[in-house]
Parts: sequence; C-alpha cells; structure tokens
Amino acid sequence: MNKNRLSSTMQEGLNKQMTQEAWAAQVYLSYASWAADEGYNGIANFLFRHANEERNHMMKFLEYILERGGKVRVDPIAKPPDDPTSVQNCFEKVFQQEIDNTTGIYKLVKLSHEESDWATWHFLQWFVQEQTEEETLAMGLLDKIKVAGGENASADALYNLDRDLARAPDEAELAESKTVENP
Ligand code: FEO
Repeated sequence: MNKNRLSSTMQEGLNKQMTQEAWAAQVYLSYASWAADEGYNGIANFLFRHANEERNHMMKFLEYILERGGKVRVDPIAKPPDDPTSVQNCFEKVFQQEIDNTTGIYKLVKLSHEESDWATWHFLQWFVQEQTEEETLAMGLLDKIKVAGGENASADALYNLDRDLARAPDEAELAESKTVENP
C-alpha cells in the first residue's frame, strides 16, 4: 500500500526547498567567513548564528517529507555566490537571498492550495511567518548600514555596528506582537 501522502509534484517541491535551505546555510557560512576575514567579528557571529537557523529549516523540511511518508532526496548543494564587496553589499545580498527564499515558500503554499493539501499548507505557515521575520531582520540590517553611512560608513560607525550585531537578537519582533503600549 502506498503510504505517501504527498503528490509527486509536492514531494519534488519540498525536496527542492530542503536543498534551498541547506544552500542558504552555506551562503551565510560563506558571508560570515568573509566578514570574519575582514575583521568584522560581530557581523560574522550574527551570520554564523543565522547559518544554523537555515540548517534547522532544512531539517524541518526533511522531517516533514518523512512524516508524510515521502521520499527524501539529498542533493548536492550549489556553490555560494561571490564574496560581498562591502558591509553594505553583504547586507543587500542577505536581503535579496531572503526575498528569493520567500518566493520559494510562496510557490509551495500556492501549490498546496491548488492540491488541497491542507497538511502541507499548515506546515508551510510556520515558514511564511519565519520569512516575514527574516525579511524584517534583513531590512533592519540595511537600516543600520544606511544610518552608519552606507558605502561611505566611517571606521567608527562600522566598529559600532559590528559590536551591536554581536549581541543582536536572532528573531525580529513582528507587527502581530505590537500594541499601542509596546510599539
Ligand atoms: Fe530559511 Fe532565511 O530562510
């Protein structure tokens, strides 16, 4: 008896997204290593922590495919893009990567809706929220580098930004948790 509760299209999509998350972890590792090499150890720490989050995302997809009786396919992971050229460029690349990842998640949500695969739709809602958080976090990085002076940021401003990021939280606070008392 076939126990697979995923359509072949959905199984393929979930496997691809699993690899996409593994790739995202490699990208963060590579940007973190670049930052450490440039002497930005706080930024590196932030990005290394984020690499772990992406590995966790990968694991969630893997476990979900198994849970639904599907077949996991562990594919090769593509090479990360070129190193950033500056802190500003690094944060721009991070933001773009998160937007691209959101696009992948939304495609799967759409597919789950088309297939009336409500279990997968429900599973994916966690990722919809996570992507909003990650985009918010990445936008926050772009705000920080803008205030620091963008491509023309002074050594002092970059020093402060680097120190802040070593202690920055991994999660962004979303609109849902805001109130008039806690804007
Ligand atoms: Fe797993 Fe940054 O998305």
